[in-house]
Amino acid sequence: MNAEQKKMVIKKHKGKLAILTPGMGAVATTLYAGVEAIKAGLEKPIGSYTQMGKIRLGKRSENRSSVVKDMVSLAPLDDIVFGGWDIFHDNAYEAAAKAEVVNKNLLEKIKSPLEKIRPMSAVFDSNYIKNINGENKKTYKTKMEAADLLRADIKNFISKNGCDRAVMVWCASTEAYNPIQDVHKSLKKFEEGLRNNDPKISPSQIYTYAALMEGVPYVNGSPNVSVEIPALQELALETSTPIGGSDFKTGQTLMKTIVAPGLKNRVLGVQGWFSTNILGNRDGEVLDDPESFKSKEISKGGVLSDIFNASEYPDLYKNLYHKIRINYYPPRGDNKESWDNIDIFGWLGEAMQIKINFLCKDSILAAPVVLDLALFIDLAKRAEMKGIQEWLSFYLKAPLAAEGLRPINDLSLQLLKLENTLRFFANEELINHLGLVHYGIEEEIEN
Ligand SMILES: NC(=O)c1ccc[n+]([C@@H]2O[C@H](COP(=O)([O-])OP(=O)(O)OC[C@H]3O[C@@H](n4cnc5c(N)ncnc54)[C@H](O)[C@@H]3O)[C@@H](O)[C@H]2O)c1
Repeated sequence: MNAEQKKMVIKKHKGKLAILTPGMGAVATTLYAGVEAIKAGLEKPIGSYTQMGKIRLGKRSENRSSVVKDMVSLAPLDDIVFGGWDIFHDNAYEAAAKAEVVNKNLLEKIKSPLEKIRPMSAVFDSNYIKNINGENKKTYKTKMEAADLLRADIKNFISKNGCDRAVMVWCASTEAYNPIQDVHKSLKKFEEGLRNNDPKISPSQIYTYAALMEGVPYVNGSPNVSVEIPALQELALETSTPIGGSDFKTGQTLMKTIVAPGLKNRVLGVQGWFSTNILGNRDGEVLDDPESFKSKEISKGGVLSDIFNASEYPDLYKNLYHKIRINYYPPRGDNKESWDNIDIFGWLGEAMQIKINFLCKDSILAAPVVLDLALFIDLAKRAEMKGIQEWLSFYLKAPLAAEGLRPINDLSLQLLKLENTLRFFANEELINHLGLVHYGIEEEIEN
């Protein structure tokens, strides 16, 4: 530990942790199924940094490292209980079978625990999600009443399942674009809006409000504007609850935040970046509605403008043209294929091109991200951290940052921040990779 470093005392995990997901579709059921398969010893937690990632500790000369889950007190997989809400009645086994992500043979082996996960009835508004509808919905007179029903669900779930605490991660569909308006600007106005059924309050905002009122940490895995609004950020601080968002960083955007920082670091110019993809799952169907697509376009779009800072590098990026297309194409199901064409230029202004063709499995990439986010946001709560958790940006497409700060989108910088936060939690020395001792300069700060 560095001499001036504050010593952290974090409540240790105990009992059971409820991971609650609004939405029991492809991503959520791939998560549940994966965790059950790992618990049964059938699979390994590939893609999960908390379960398989290692972190270097101390000076390089110490040759010390730890698996992340052994370094900080995280809930072990055996202590996780899953619950969710959906507009469809399918239990998690049926929903996973319909999503066709998890291999059928494997799914049969974990049928029994998955069948027990039955969706609680949803708070749904077809003004916000147009292309799908279902029967498993709550009835209520006001949006405040809807929030109260969700709060009761959370409390009942925790007590029925003997859980010590809960976290909520939004895994439901992308809602129509809902920009921040007056009703979103303060908690007082928002609560008035809930009582008056303000049409600008979306279901995802109601779930977030319910979670935060219960002191349940919340992560937004979609591009919805929910925990992003000032009213709910105010509530997170008031209830000392950690929050994170927005939108899981998985396929094409993950690749962008790996490639783009490299180009910028080598001071290469970029004239255009055209990203298109085809996907045929229910997420793709919802995104086929222009209003839902708009939400996604915005969360995907900010990444490049943040990494290629045109005001700092006008010669390299002022003309950057960034175009994103998502095409619903049912034959591919969850197997998304994306193409990126990147027009770059270098020394003497010479033009070059990069092509990336990623044949990915959307929910296979997303499931371990949800697991890590859930375990880390629970850790944040036990560390008494509240409000936006920027150290979780590593997992998010449009990371939230404190007011007045630019979000960090570069994946390697996000990892540095994540690793140092974990070292800080574990009262380990923070590492700046300076390594001065090798030049005979200063042994003390060698790291
Ligand atoms: N798969 C990825 O790689 C990825 C990456 C980033 C973000 N996301 C986001 O994650 C979310 C889930 O993706 P998915 O592929 O599982 O989608 P999905 O369509 O398979 O599942 C979403 C589920 O949410 C349900 N739902 C819709 N509105 C609801 C509400 N108000 N309350 C409760 N349930 C509701 C739907 O019925 C559906 O079953 C989407 O918002 C998507 O944009 C996914």
